[in-house]
Amino acid sequence: MGEGFQYRDGTLFAEDVPLPAIAAAVGTPVYVYAANAMRAAYRRLAGALATVPAGRRTTLCYAVKANSNLAVIRTLGREGCGGDVVSVGELRRCLMAGIPADRIVFSGVGKTRAELAAAVEAGIKQFNVESLPELEILSQVAAEQGRVAPVALRVNPDVDALTLKQITTGTRDAKFGIDIERAPDLYRHARALPNLDCGGIAMHIGSQVTDLKPFRDAYQRLADLAKLLRADGFPISRLDLGGGLAITYRDEVPADPDGFAALIEDIVGPLDCELMLEPGRVLVGNAGLLLSSVIYPKTDLARPFLIVDAAMNDLIRPALYGAWHAIVPVAEPRPGTPEAPVDVVGPVCESTDCFAQARHLPPLASGDLVAFLSAGAYGAVMAGEYNTRPLVPEVLVDGARFAVVRKRPTFAEMVAGESMPDWLDDRPAAAGAP
Ligand code: LLP
Repeated sequence: MGEGFQYRDGTLFAEDVPLPAIAAAVGTPVYVYAANAMRAAYRRLAGALATVPAGRRTTLCYAVKANSNLAVIRTLGREGCGGDVVSVGELRRCLMAGIPADRIVFSGVGKTRAELAAAVEAGIKQFNVESLPELEILSQVAAEQGRVAPVALRVNPDVDALTLKQITTGTRDAKFGIDIERAPDLYRHARALPNLDCGGIAMHIGSQVTDLKPFRDAYQRLADLAKLLRADGFPISRLDLGGGLAITYRDEVPADPDGFAALIEDIVGPLDCELMLEPGRVLVGNAGLLLSSVIYPKTDLARPFLIVDAAMNDLIRPALYGAWHAIVPVAEPRPGTPEAPVDVVGPVCESTDCFAQARHLPPLASGDLVAFLSAGAYGAVMAGEYNTRPLVPEVLVDGARFAVVRKRPTFAEMVAGESMPDWLDDRPAAAGAP
């Protein structure tokens, strides 16, 4: 269920707030986040790391792509978390939310010159560079500003993360990183470029990685490379180990934080480097749910459907990756209530707008509330406006308090950026206009 959410007297609560109260105040669909569950996830990981020397040299840089709501970033930032960003937009969000620049790393395969310039100006902790041309542009940009940019080359260790194919990033056929065998050449090249401090190595092998073995294999390769580079005269002092720690959506057993910390100590501890991690999902995934109402049960068919007011534009993971999210009624079913298989679908005009097939649920009627669990990561951030559906709002719960942290746009706001070209404009031309 995620620790921020539990039934009390037959109603599902987010921390101390009953979900029907949020639905009544904000409407549905709406994302609901439990701040204390996020803090707990952060403290679990930070606490495990604090038990080993290498962990105490580690900065946790929250991968804000998982959930970039400003209030979420600030909640984690106040815990001491840094940020991992992949665009200037995410960088600005982190700064706005109060994360100091010296705790921000910039990842991503296609950072533009303008983005690099903004990040150099902000004075971020590290650039995880993914190609030779990027390295050259970064050097120029840093020189223009008279600064030295701290760099890690993101290497691709060619290790299979044993996760969904769509979210694997560390194998040789991925667009990410630099082939680990080519890395020494690139470091030599980088050494010749001005205004760069190439004392780092970075990697990220994929997401929702349940097993420790891929981490062990990849970190071993990273450690081997660090030793090789040091022998070649490079003062490697920073290692960014990426993100990827899994959560339980259904029955996955994620790697436990203590085992993960022990692994880090074991493999990279002896190098005595400053370390960074880029966890996203593990900090926020199970701290959020998507609250939705049943529009119509269409259960008189051979294949019964439950049509809800959330859709693939609000939570795209099932449509995009075949991902599984638990779906639970907000009114707790009485023990012994019969369940029947039903396809849970949204109103969008696409057959892929399907959250679950033949899911066993108790009988539900129009207006009943349901919750899609484990939706705190890669939920709202991947939402869109397909079918002119307004971007789904977000609510943050903290104990008995809740606040709308992104409102539902009005129709006027949704179309505000659009305009008619003059040849389609049917307002009368202004007097004197040509
Ligand atoms: N660092 C880098 C460079 C990344 O590309 C990612 C995720 C992370 C860190 C954070 O990974 P995490 O700890 O959250 O696993 N939309 C997909 C997940 C895509 C992940 C992309 N990169 C999903 O819904 O499952």
